[in-house]
Amino acid sequence: ASSFRIAPSLLSADFARLGEEVDHVIASGADWLHFDVMDNHYVPNLTIGPLVCQAIRPLTKAPIDVHLMVEPVDALVPMFAKAGANLITFHPEASRHVDRTLQLIRDNGCQAGLVFNPTTPLDYMDYVMDKLDMVLLMSINPGFGGQSFLPSTYPKLRAARARLDAYERDSGRRILLEVDGGVKVDNIAEIARAGADTFVAGSAVFGAAKAEDAHRYDSVIAAM
Ligand code: DX5
Ligand code: ZN
Repeated sequence: ASSFRIAPSLLSADFARLGEEVDHVIASGADWLHFDVMDNHYVPNLTIGPLVCQAIRPLTKAPIDVHLMVEPVDALVPMFAKAGANLITFHPEASRHVDRTLQLIRDNGCQAGLVFNPTTPLDYMDYVMDKLDMVLLMSINPGFGGQSFLPSTYPKLRAARARLDAYERDSGRRILLEVDGGVKVDNIAEIARAGADTFVAGSAVFGAAKAEDAHRYDSVIAAM
């Protein structure tokens, strides 16, 4: 349905042929591209930066959803904005001044969001609701694709949904609720019922296609 978005995570794509992977996943019905940035400091892994974002930007008009798993955050914000990011999310523990970083993202022309690790309290969103376009709940510990969805995410999603609905009733403004980690064809409906409207899926999308033949992602995305 159109009120839901699927954001395949490029983390599980074949990096030797990234451009083709982007083309195929968009042609297969992906709504967004999820772009995982890891710095070997905030998380124990190292991935891709603004240069790669800039390289894929001309391939699609689909929103690029940049998930910053980096510390510190601020210096990368203008770099990703220039590289064509549409949304930029970051982990509140990784920024010394969360309100300032959210404002910086918007001042750079992007939508802004906070990411909550499995044990990060939702209270971090208090006082900054007006500066949030999206809330992202991690359903795994960040750093790697292919991990299992943590069931503790379900009640947390319901709690976040309640907060965002209350805010929407007061303000008339809708904040998206995204979930990231272990999202599969067989749990996405339950995740949606708990309140998520935007779904990151890495290994589910790219892994399934590798198992098939010609890197087609239609069937798995359609099944979501
Ligand atoms: C992990 C990343 C996720 C990851 C999800 O830290 O933020 O976006 O790619 O991968 P799957 O869908 O395989 O759990
Ligand atoms: Zn991510």
